[in-house]
Amino acid sequence: MKFAFFDTKPYDKPSFDHYGEQKGIKFKYYETKLNEDTAELAKGCDGVCVFVNDDVSAKVIDKLYELGVKLIALRCAGYNNVDVKHAFGKIHVVRVPAYSPYAVAEHAMAMLLTSVRRIHKAYIRTKDFNFSLSGLTGFDLHGKTVGVVGTGKIGRIFIDICKGFGMNVLAYDKFPAENSGLNYVTLDELYEKSDIISFHCPLTEETYHMVDSGAVEKMKKGVILLNTSRGALIDAEVLLEGIKSRKIGGACLDVYEEEADIFFEDFSGHIVEDDTLARLISMPNVIVTSHQAFLTEEALDNIAETTTDNIVEFFKSEGSSNELCYHCGRIEECRKNRQCKCF
Ligand code: NAI
Repeated sequence: MKFAFFDTKPYDKPSFDHYGEQKGIKFKYYETKLNEDTAELAKGCDGVCVFVNDDVSAKVIDKLYELGVKLIALRCAGYNNVDVKHAFGKIHVVRVPAYSPYAVAEHAMAMLLTSVRRIHKAYIRTKDFNFSLSGLTGFDLHGKTVGVVGTGKIGRIFIDICKGFGMNVLAYDKFPAENSGLNYVTLDELYEKSDIISFHCPLTEETYHMVDSGAVEKMKKGVILLNTSRGALIDAEVLLEGIKSRKIGGACLDVYEEEADIFFEDFSGHIVEDDTLARLISMPNVIVTSHQAFLTEEALDNIAETTTDNIVEFFKSEGSSNELCYHCGRIEECRKNRQCKCF
């Protein structure tokens, strides 16, 4: 089996080579992202292996289909970059539903602690032998209220971590988990009562810009926003205005709505064109990491193992448990439950 591997980074290769060799899959690595212009590189391949910022829109799917590509193997959980409805009937799509929810939840807490205890400022000061403390006053997390939006795998682990810190947890989910003992409230109540809000739900049409100006209005003054999910959950312009007006007390962003052409790349010698991102980064109370939350050794290994399992399962059996299609979530129509391919 031959797969074109797009948006390759040096840390991808060792684990994919290891599992690929074991399972008879040859990966052709390309640094470029998948898009309309680069789809041609998949010529002669059985499938493509893609990541969060590859473009798997309708036009790209059509090109891949013409080339005879049978499988789009996502090496990530989120699939908002794939037109799954358009792919249906043409090319199958598989994903890695969970690789290390701990990695993401722990990164969210790392960012929160960095922000509230001013670690990012202290680190730079002591590197310069500046041992003064002025301006570094933080606050205790203990006793604060954290609102968690999305109580799936990552959200639940983040909640456990927060409980360990003695925080009060409010939760919101479109599909609340039964018998979880979680304190579910409405989204409005969560916005109104939380000192810190952390987002762990997927990006969908419904959650796009769920943090808009109306939402920020409802929030407490000084609220800290944490986003390790997908950038477009938060309207970046609204966030910037909220920071400037001091309504929002801090933001920890591992994702950004226009990240596709910026994150994962080195722009240190360049002028970044995105004024909103540049202004956000210039704020003392905004911390940005570049979609790094997943990046642990454990997660990289799990990603490669599950992706290669998905590929083998797809080509060698009737169905693939990690296949997804636009029917996902509508149980009565789900062929996957009958261990068949989605179409
Ligand atoms: P999950 O599928 O286990 O949980 C998602 C939760 O969101 C579910 O409980 C679901 O009911 C809920 N949800 C769905 N629609 C909602 C809505 N409209 N409002 C509120 N809640 C809603 O997913 P998991 O593994 O916990 O991942 C969460 C998100 O984290 C992913 O969608 C992905 O975008 C992001 N992610 C980010 C990574 C990073 O490196 N920064 C790595 C992995 C995932």
